[in-house]
Amino acid sequence: MSDETLSNLMHENRRFEPPAELAANANVTAEAYERAAGDREAFWAEAAERLDWGQKWDQVLDWTNPPFAKWFTGATINASVNCVDRHVEAGRGDKVALHWVGEPADDTRDITYAQLLDEVSQAANALTELGVKKGDRVAIYLPMIPETVVAMLACARLGAPHTVVFGGFSSDALASRITDCGAKVVITSDGGYRRGAPSALKPAVDEAVEKVHAAGEVEVTAVLVVKRTNQDVEWHEGRDVWWHDVVGNASKEHTAELHDSEHPLYVMYTSGTTGKPKGILHTTGGYLVGTSYTHWSVFDLKPETDVYWCTADVGWVTGHSYMVYGPLANGATQVMYEGTPDAPHKGRWWEIIEKYGVTIFYTAPTAIRTFMKQGSDIPAKFDLSSIRLLGSVGESINPEAYMWYREHIGANKAPIVDTWWQTETGQILLSPLPGVTAGKPGSAMKALPGIVADVVDDEAHSVPNGSGGYLVLKEPWPAMLRTIWGDDQRFIDTYWSRWQGLYFAGDGAKKDEDGDIWLLGRVDDVMNVSGHRLSTTEIESALVSHPKVAEAAVVGAADDMTGQAVCAFVILRDNAGDGGADIIQELRTHVAKEIGAIAKPRQIMVVPELPKTRSGKIMRRLLKDVAEGRDVGDVTTLADSSVMDLIKAREDAAQKA
Ligand code: PRX
Repeated sequence: MSDETLSNLMHENRRFEPPAELAANANVTAEAYERAAGDREAFWAEAAERLDWGQKWDQVLDWTNPPFAKWFTGATINASVNCVDRHVEAGRGDKVALHWVGEPADDTRDITYAQLLDEVSQAANALTELGVKKGDRVAIYLPMIPETVVAMLACARLGAPHTVVFGGFSSDALASRITDCGAKVVITSDGGYRRGAPSALKPAVDEAVEKVHAAGEVEVTAVLVVKRTNQDVEWHEGRDVWWHDVVGNASKEHTAELHDSEHPLYVMYTSGTTGKPKGILHTTGGYLVGTSYTHWSVFDLKPETDVYWCTADVGWVTGHSYMVYGPLANGATQVMYEGTPDAPHKGRWWEIIEKYGVTIFYTAPTAIRTFMKQGSDIPAKFDLSSIRLLGSVGESINPEAYMWYREHIGANKAPIVDTWWQTETGQILLSPLPGVTAGKPGSAMKALPGIVADVVDDEAHSVPNGSGGYLVLKEPWPAMLRTIWGDDQRFIDTYWSRWQGLYFAGDGAKKDEDGDIWLLGRVDDVMNVSGHRLSTTEIESALVSHPKVAEAAVVGAADDMTGQAVCAFVILRDNAGDGGADIIQELRTHVAKEIGAIAKPRQIMVVPELPKTRSGKIMRRLLKDVAEGRDVGDVTTLADSSVMDLIKAREDAAQKA
């Protein structure tokens, strides 16, 4: 974020008080902050009472071996039972759990909690039949269809940790995740619908499994395939099975076993500062407490009357915590939509809100900016009066987008909760509470009750109000990651080694004069593109794996729509000449193949040299200046300062062309 934007933000003095009616009936009031500060563990124990446990815990938190936390030690619990069975047992079986909306018009399904229980039980029986046992890993590579939720809950039921891989990732990315966590079964579909057309998924799984087997470390014994689009699929007899055959014909009776509170629930891969994605491990009891409590408090969920909709794809952590585990544990009724916001028309989301009477809506700033650009006349055509609360996640919401969201979607009355959290944190940690906190456009405000966050300087001293520094967490929280799958040392090094006893989130932040927190973006080599995390190093490795590329440097440059955009600078190998007329396209396609379409650079520049320090470190800061069209800053630490002139000359020539 530029200094100018920052100082504008600091002068933001608009305040939006909680609506009186919401405040009067809010699930959580100001008292929660004091209670949690008085006895944090007692506070989380009370939150845990909202769930059904088998054996109760001996200890709320075991922090004797930091940074390896154990929450609710000795307790037993089943996440799937908490998300499904207990609502049916309480007589709410006929309540709709999912209003599923397919992308093709009129392709919808309403699934009640009782139906969900039947399907989850069938899927659990089918997975058992396929040899999945407690502790085995299962990879899920599916579109936004009900079977995805069913598959996750079936894995959770069996205690088989799932790793859901976003359907936009390539076969290479899928293969590396299957290998890293040693998944023995993959659940996928023939395809899904996107922008009005079926797009295939199964071929990527076939390729991925082939790669995994060629590497020889892991064996995928079964691929379970949902028929969604009726596309032709290549079939591997003995390995591939249809979902409708094995799940559809399985028994609807399944008795769930209780698992230890610390039993692994899932692994979610996310980008770090190296080329290798990190498998973030979440476990069961604490994760479910953290997500269900925050879903209930931050969104002020009234399960009897609210219709909740989180637009995130289930392939990301937001889909896990605030579409699957949090809302279902709370017995919510929610919308799940398969497709893109503009298919078949730009008002699709608003049409869905009108149809189902959505009351709580949770999305990302990048989507809001896209709608702003398309014009407020589009949402104005729909009745959005059911909306009573809006949420934002993924990056700081810029004040313009906040105001537009408030006015055109929230009718100038619905409060906006700007929720800061991460794949690693599992649950929302910073956010206004809608019945308590006056919202400021652009600020995530402060740590939720039970969470201890701060902004510190290089020496880990808390900065005074009005100053900036690094966002840290000072105390463990229930849904925190437990480790990086298979790599405890990387877990320690990445999050806990910068300052003794503090979790470093990787984000810069500032406290305003009231002590409220404003997030300023990543301070490491991680980019945030449309609310998704991408690693500069990972994209650089993808580029360098192309035979024509000698070296590459990637930076995240400011972008009006996506927050940041991927910009790459590459040096070609001598024997590649000028790379040929299609070199840029060739490299973009190559990145999509290696990682996925989301990682495709917006811009690639072929350059003769890269700016490096005398010790050989690439100075990405200077490349960012070029990519953002600024004058290049201080070049005195460069080994060869004429390099920047050469790069600038190329950039200018490219601009003219
Ligand atoms: O930089 C922060 C940004 O997204 C990062 C976490 O990305 P990921 O693990 O992919 O999870 C995204 C969804 C939780 C953070 O380190 N971020 C997320 N939410 C916000 C945010 N930055 C500012 N404000 C937010 N509300």
